[in-house]
Amino acid sequence: MKSIVLFASGSGSNVENIAHYFEGNPNVSIACVFTNKRDAFVIDRCNTLGISVFYFNKHSFYTTALVSDVLKCIKPDLIVLAGFLLKIPAEIVQGFPNKLINIHPALLPKHGGKGMYGMHVHRAVKKDNATESGITIHYVNEYYDEGAIIQQYRTGISEQDSAEDIAKKVQELEHIYYPKVIEELLFKD
Ligand code: GAR
Repeated sequence: MKSIVLFASGSGSNVENIAHYFEGNPNVSIACVFTNKRDAFVIDRCNTLGISVFYFNKHSFYTTALVSDVLKCIKPDLIVLAGFLLKIPAEIVQGFPNKLINIHPALLPKHGGKGMYGMHVHRAVKKDNATESGITIHYVNEYYDEGAIIQQYRTGISEQDSAEDIAKKVQELEHIYYPKVIEELLFKD
């Protein structure tokens, strides 16, 4: 049995999609969703889905070993960031080599870095008159959006597309490909 821990601090559509993808799979379990936002909609989704939630605050994340210690107890095969916006402390990055991945809603190295999340990314893509965007699934290191790229998937953008249209196209890619890449990583050896 492989186990996954997800980190999310927003709406949680990726968490829900990943949970549905692995539903009924006896070889994969979602151990827990970690969040630093007490009012995030992802918590409502987890309550409906029957997934445990572990809440921690930003201060303890950066000044104590709490999150790292809980992760070490769970011993997940993969830690999956799904709309989690805080930088991961070095202790966690180093404690889980090749086990910590993120999804970014654009084609890195473009449109990444601190402050580039959600609609900020899609507005920047629109402002650049980009003809394509997409998703980047990558390992997490100590720097925002700079870890080794695992996979990228692309979608075309037309001049008529608004930032909201781009967001919709990108989210479709996320929901199709993130669970598949997670599954591949879980069973690659
Ligand atoms: C997703 O689009 C994800 O790629 C993005 O946050 C969204 C979360 O949506 N992550 C980042 O921007 C990280 N820099 P969700 O809460 O509906 O899954």
